[in-house]
Amino acid sequence: STSAASGILLTQCVSNSIKAQSSSSLTSSATQSSVGNLLEVDLEASFDQVSIAGQKAKLLSYNGQIPGPRLEAKPGDTIRINFTNKLSQPTNLHYHGLHIPPTGNADNVFLKIQPGESFTYEFTLPKNHPSGTFWYHPHLHGLVAEQLFGGLAGLLIVRGELDEIPEIQAAEEQFLVLKDFALNGNQANFQGHMGIMLGREGELLTVNGELNPNFSIPKGGLLRLRILNASTSRFYRLKLEEHPLYLIATDGGSISEPVELSEVLLTPGERVEILVRGEREPGQYRLLNLPYDRTGGMGGGMMGRGMMGGGRMGGGMRGNRSNTNTPQTLATFSYKNSVETLPLPKQLIAVPELPEPQETRRFTLNHGMAPGMGMVFLINGEPFEMGNPDTVVKLNTVEDWEIANTGTMDHPFHLHTNDFQVISRDNKPEPYRAWKDTTLVKRGEVVRIRIPFKDYPGKTVYHCHILDHEDLGMMATIDMK
Ligand code: C2O
Ligand code: CU
Repeated sequence: STSAASGILLTQCVSNSIKAQSSSSLTSSATQSSVGNLLEVDLEASFDQVSIAGQKAKLLSYNGQIPGPRLEAKPGDTIRINFTNKLSQPTNLHYHGLHIPPTGNADNVFLKIQPGESFTYEFTLPKNHPSGTFWYHPHLHGLVAEQLFGGLAGLLIVRGELDEIPEIQAAEEQFLVLKDFALNGNQANFQGHMGIMLGREGELLTVNGELNPNFSIPKGGLLRLRILNASTSRFYRLKLEEHPLYLIATDGGSISEPVELSEVLLTPGERVEILVRGEREPGQYRLLNLPYDRTGGMGGGMMGRGMMGGGRMGGGMRGNRSNTNTPQTLATFSYKNSVETLPLPKQLIAVPELPEPQETRRFTLNHGMAPGMGMVFLINGEPFEMGNPDTVVKLNTVEDWEIANTGTMDHPFHLHTNDFQVISRDNKPEPYRAWKDTTLVKRGEVVRIRIPFKDYPGKTVYHCHILDHEDLGMMATIDMK
């Protein structure tokens, strides 16, 4: 498992040598220097020519790469990011899923780094930080969707307990960053108002910045896929032809034992880790994105009554809202030389059952029209700008949040700093326990999540991870005391 090994080497390196590494995997890891437990990375956001989908185009990127450099750390490490904003607009960074303070120069989404400015982020991962697949992206309200859509996103891997399970160590590892792009000639197409309101999607479905890249499955062996949906709005309903998917980890890390699935729905911001067994014949198998409708037919036609009435109409935007009727090919998997047949792990890292909540709150998600603003997206009837009061929570308590989507579009709900477990959807218990930071709340659905507020005093946010909806108001603040 070459890429895994080199990543671990980087973080265990105790000299102050600087390693540049481009592994066999298609995402490249950062030039990061590792001195003891300090990882230091230079990261620069710019709007310039980069390689995308086999061509050159002017896009937003970190260090000129799409996706941005992959950062790798382990629990207890201190991460220092020397960030420079070479964009013509302000930006900042969010460390999606990490358990670090939401304040100071850690995961502080209220910071604003002006064009031309540099800022040093620095934080230490707690010793008991879960291992998992995390990521970083901009988080400046009003500009998040555009900056992510243009290309700003990268993986942040924390290697720990899960990675030490022998069956998992024996697996080969690949990283898949799913991200759609829209180009207008050879430049990012940031799209117009209508696209933005429904959540913009691009027609280029890239994996690690490439169209239909090839991955190999070790015959007889295991392949571990770490998959991130880094798209602004697009949902992916993933299926690998003729292969079951053995889920081993979700947003917040390991689940208790592998769960066999035939497909996985991955909404924006979510991650899964999956094992694939090399149990078929040599050949080519496609990783497909199956049809899914997240807007109740509104993607079909976006003008007039098609918009507010939810009626499906023909029109130029058909097929551009995740609801095409034909599966799309994202990547191809082919077999390579056989290895000794490897077993699946039986046990992973147990996800504990949470105690009963001390407090239950209810939130509604919906959209509406506001004079002078057009369509706005609302939590409890308010857009972010109009300011719901802070949700004030007590640290070291457990809460249930009932998230009721009373609208006509699906919304993936994301909470910063603390993970949660989904208890039920429309009162139907969730089939297995998992740590999540983002979960889909379908239109008309009520999802109950249970949150142990363990981590960090301070203020942060929760929001819809269709980032156009977030920028149009579907976000609110939480204050942890
Ligand atoms: Cu990935 Cu608040 O976001
Ligand atoms: Cu939404």
